[in-house]
Amino acid sequence: MVRNIVKYGDVVLETSAEPITEFDTPELHGLIADMWETMYAAKGVGLAAPQIGLSKRLSVIDTSVGEREEDKIVIINPEIVLKEGSQTGEEGCLSIPGFREPVTRAHKVRVRAQNEKGETVEYDGEELLARALQHEIDHLNGILFVSHLSTLKRDMIRRKIRKLQKAGEWK
Ligand code: NI
Repeated sequence: MVRNIVKYGDVVLETSAEPITEFDTPELHGLIADMWETMYAAKGVGLAAPQIGLSKRLSVIDTSVGEREEDKIVIINPEIVLKEGSQTGEEGCLSIPGFREPVTRAHKVRVRAQNEKGETVEYDGEELLARALQHEIDHLNGILFVSHLSTLKRDMIRRKIRKLQKAGEWK
């Protein structure tokens, strides 16, 4: 089922999410299936549970956007255990549609997480995958990509969004 994606301004997006403690349950499998469906419907490369209004430490990533099954990654209770180098590239977010800005992040990361069965998994990512992993893990900590921008740029985006909210064009 495609879920509604919550937009910037909703407090759930800026709240640190709760760890997942029950694995391999029909609820968790159903939630992950919904997250894939929602992410692909929105043509995103990643989606975090807070973006569908659930304060849980779960994200899905597919940098191939549905092209390669082996690129599908589910990370639960993830942590970044290694960061190397830096990269700057355009970034956007399904919760902040219409805005894209350059963000500087680590070029390479190693992430340790749990899968849907609760098993420990590790992913090494570079470039786009590293960017997606950092962006989606940020979401679980209540951090949005605009937090990485200058105050000036962030305020500019906030003002534009406030206008859209007033016009009823942001929901
Ligand atoms: Ni995002």
